[in-house]
Amino acid sequence: MAMAKVGPGIAGGNNRQALTDEDAAGRTLFQKWCVAEGLEVSVDKMGNMFGRRPGQQNDLPPVMVGSHLDTQPTGGKFDGPLGVIAALEIIKSLNEADIKTKHPIEVVNWTNEEGCRFAPPTMSSGVFVGAYSLEWAYARQDGSGKNFGDELVRIGWAGDKEVGERPIAAFFELHIEQGPILEDTNTDIGVVTHGQGLHWWRIELNGKDAHSGSTPMHVRQNAGLGMAKIIVLVDEIAQSYTSQAVGTVGHVEFLPNATNIIPGKALCTIDFRSQHPEVLSKMDVALKKGAENIAEEHGLKISFELVGDLEPVIFDQKCVSSVRQAADRLGYSYRDLISGACHDAFWLSQVAPSAMVMCPCVGGLSHNEAEEITSYWASASANVLFHAVLETAGISD
Ligand code: GLV
Ligand code: MN
Ligand code: MN
Repeated sequence: MAMAKVGPGIAGGNNRQALTDEDAAGRTLFQKWCVAEGLEVSVDKMGNMFGRRPGQQNDLPPVMVGSHLDTQPTGGKFDGPLGVIAALEIIKSLNEADIKTKHPIEVVNWTNEEGCRFAPPTMSSGVFVGAYSLEWAYARQDGSGKNFGDELVRIGWAGDKEVGERPIAAFFELHIEQGPILEDTNTDIGVVTHGQGLHWWRIELNGKDAHSGSTPMHVRQNAGLGMAKIIVLVDEIAQSYTSQAVGTVGHVEFLPNATNIIPGKALCTIDFRSQHPEVLSKMDVALKKGAENIAEEHGLKISFELVGDLEPVIFDQKCVSSVRQAADRLGYSYRDLISGACHDAFWLSQVAPSAMVMCPCVGGLSHNEAEEITSYWASASANVLFHAVLETAGISD
């Protein structure tokens, strides 16, 4: 709740988008909490924050645990912060119980998980695992043309540590489900076995600005109309793969966006998700073909750019088992889940055994300021996370 006071939204949630002043304030608060628990805080060149608790054997790679503190523009209080703060709670509990682990433990806050300001999502864990270069990430621009690299420096959180390039024993992430399955089935804990992949497409349509009163209908090159048809097309494509995929147009712009000008330009971003790579490819083909036909019909130029590309993920069996066994031992109800949203753990699974714990959220609602969880769900899932992390890090002799 203290973190949720930083960067409040307009309806009880949060607007703490990546590399804003609010993000900087959230980081400062998190750093203060880490220092109070005796953690050594370091920051890498992507602004990823690590709070390290030494182990008995400090030459062993760390067990990492965390999530993200950045939010959507109309984000909830728990999407991300729950996983970061639960990680810190593990440290606090270990300190209070005076437990030393064999492996060091590192609590992490990944920069720009959401990808709403700078696409793609999970950008900085992507750089950490070597999927993107630092230079490429620094050059990503927000909607107003500001660079990621410049904004990271401006808010004072460009660290000096190289990004990635070190071994990790395992990675665990706790996150709210962001969907309805756990609550609907009255289940305490989601044991995440797989994650959906995603393709994000940016489409630009170019026609001709013209007077909306005096330009006859048959000579118009109306980019807005073309875009409206593409929105319908995206829905039709996703509906044709129901139960295997979803598709959304969540961002659209008409230019110049004036009542009495036929829009000469329109932009959108399309979010396709599926657990099956072949389905994503088929959706891409259908989008290209259908959108090109729409552009031709309306005399528009069209361009496509893939701005997000994440592979579907299978999590590590041993880490997943330690989550499942922890839930079982602690007497919580649990079930396997496929994550519909993407997470930093997806990238980490490429370089370290990884797994996720999920807790229910009210009505399955997320990316909405009304996002809510109960304190029982939070503590149950944090307990499971604690046990999985402790088992993996090992208790020192
Ligand atoms: C991240 O929040 C996502 O869009 O899955
Ligand atoms: Mn999240
Ligand atoms: Mn999110």
